[in-house]
Amino acid sequence: MRVIVGVSGGIAAYKACELVSRLVQAGEEVRVIMTPTATEFVSPLTFRALSGGAVAIGVEDEPEGPLSHITLSHWAQAMVVAPATASLLARLAQGTADNMLSLVYLGFRGPVLVAPAMEPDMWQHPRTEANVRILKEDGVIVVGPREGRLASGRTGVGRMAEPHELVEALRDAVAVKDLAGVRMVVTAGATWEHFDPVRLLTNPSTGRMGVAIANQAARRGAAVVLVSGPRVNLPLHPAVQKRPVVSAVDMLEVVQDAIVSAEVYIGAAAVSDFRPAHPVGTKVHKESLGREWEMEPNPDVIRTIADQHRGKKLMIGFAAETEDAPARAEAKRRKKGLDAVVANMVGGGRGFGEDPHDSWLSTDTGTRPLGRDKDQAAALLLDWVAERIREGAGWKS
Ligand SMILES: Cc1cc2nc3c(=O)[nH]c(=O)nc-3n(C[C@H](O)[C@H](O)[C@H](O)COP(=O)(O)O)c2cc1C
Repeated sequence: MRVIVGVSGGIAAYKACELVSRLVQAGEEVRVIMTPTATEFVSPLTFRALSGGAVAIGVEDEPEGPLSHITLSHWAQAMVVAPATASLLARLAQGTADNMLSLVYLGFRGPVLVAPAMEPDMWQHPRTEANVRILKEDGVIVVGPREGRLASGRTGVGRMAEPHELVEALRDAVAVKDLAGVRMVVTAGATWEHFDPVRLLTNPSTGRMGVAIANQAARRGAAVVLVSGPRVNLPLHPAVQKRPVVSAVDMLEVVQDAIVSAEVYIGAAAVSDFRPAHPVGTKVHKESLGREWEMEPNPDVIRTIADQHRGKKLMIGFAAETEDAPARAEAKRRKKGLDAVVANMVGGGRGFGEDPHDSWLSTDTGTRPLGRDKDQAAALLLDWVAERIREGAGWKS
């Protein structure tokens, strides 16, 4: 992504350094434009070093040669102004092109985000409110300000949104909304099957894969319900609705309810196959612990859902395998009557959490690799989902 980071003259200008650094580390190309006042707060040298590009300030600056304001407006895919002062919001709302930042803003036609930062009284002033209203009407995305401690020592609404939040909002703004209007249920993480209140049967799944799918699907416009096992506490996209569960039986119940109003089911959870047949409600003390516990099979969540909704909803399962993953994915897809199965190689330090990752997607048109990390696998899987939906396969809730 090619991003212009605009910085105006407020205390929070120091946070723009972290924003630029984060974007650059994530592989994005960044050009910084500062207002003249912003240079009183942070040196352009800092942004030049962080972004690796010349910093533009005045309308006469030529970081990209003559007519740099036009070159920059056409070069960028997105623009984020952080911090946005009350004064800058006013000039953007009025279209006053008196410095490089407001000039480039007028010439740019892609998504623009602003992160206001100011004292609560300034933020709540009717003039600022009117300017923000105008900017929103013009399609500008206003992120924050948040409530918290301000440089003045006061507490209130006026803190600039955090850099990580702005990076996520930028990604949302530029994402292709090819899953808009699609409703999806995604499961993630391990289930817990209790023997007694302090002992349980589970597995090392962290939910990382399911959460990557849920977050990316939400970014691409889907309405996502994430049904996740305990200890899945990874950051979620604000549009993901989380429904936490404990056991496989709980998971099935919640999925059966959520799937009714969805078109797509992606079962990425590692559901325990068995559960203790006779769990007890109080701790079993060591002296009376038996050496054997009777187990009974858990419901097969994906198979149950597939049997109830086959042909009416798009059904995708996951298989964790220690060998022959592509062949086993194909076998599982056929056996359970699913539209697709993703097979992950696990074991020997592979497959869980941030471990190295190898996966394959088996569909009715063949089996293909899904890449070597979970974010890439999630993206490729969702490309396939979007393609199937575009083909108009008639999935309905
Ligand atoms: C120390 C100091 C801190 C300031 N902090 C803010 C701020 O957080 N938000 C804001 O809107 N204005 C703040 N101002 C006022 C702006 O710097 C002033 O309105 C300036 O004209 C903004 O110029 P610019 O929008 O072109 O960068 C501050 C001023 C000073 C002296």
